[in-house]
Amino acid sequence: MRKEIDISSVFEETVEYLKGDGVILLAGNPPNPMTIGWGTIGYIWGRLIFTVLVRPSRFTFSLMESSTEFTVNLLPDEFIRQLSLCGTKSGRNTDKLIECGFQIEKGINLVSPYIRESAVHFECCIVHKHDLIPENLDINIAKRYYPSDDFHKVYYGEILGVFREMPVPAF
Ligand SMILES: Cc1cc2nc3c(=O)[nH]c(=O)nc-3n(C[C@H](O)[C@H](O)[C@H](O)COP(=O)(O)O)c2cc1C
Repeated sequence: MRKEIDISSVFEETVEYLKGDGVILLAGNPPNPMTIGWGTIGYIWGRLIFTVLVRPSRFTFSLMESSTEFTVNLLPDEFIRQLSLCGTKSGRNTDKLIECGFQIEKGINLVSPYIRESAVHFECCIVHKHDLIPENLDINIAKRYYPSDDFHKVYYGEILGVFREMPVPAF
């Protein structure tokens, strides 16, 4: 059973996942799961925003470009194999949902789905996007992370809901 939760109860946990093995960005129709490690949660335009960064070389990039929504999914630790697979294989030539054994469920506030096996998921509506501006980027960051000029695009998703899987009460 999914229960809506407050962002404050999941903020630190989400940052730990981002810093660690990553989280799953699910976008497109049909949906494709991609592991991401770069993202922020914050408050802009009076709205809660989940910002994600996607390189143009990813299959997910074309899906994000034709989407108005996405979900971010936090997977329990036993899904390390799936996180690695979604971060190394491309949806261009692999059905990652099938390879991972993931089931999808229609979003609660969105048409787009979330991963049923996730412990927590964020439902986001894209309200802004832009390319990184190479000439405005710190030179050391540019050299280290963009040797082949594959500069990320930044997507701002307004968080329409955060949901946690809860045990069904036994009565
Ligand atoms: C831990 C981890 C974090 C990653 N974070 C990002 C990210 O934030 N943005 C990005 O564009 N790619 C990131 N990647 C790389 C993509 O997940 C990877 O290239 C993936 O195979 C692309 O899948 P797709 O072609 O189906 O979109 C990450 C990979 C790993 C393993």
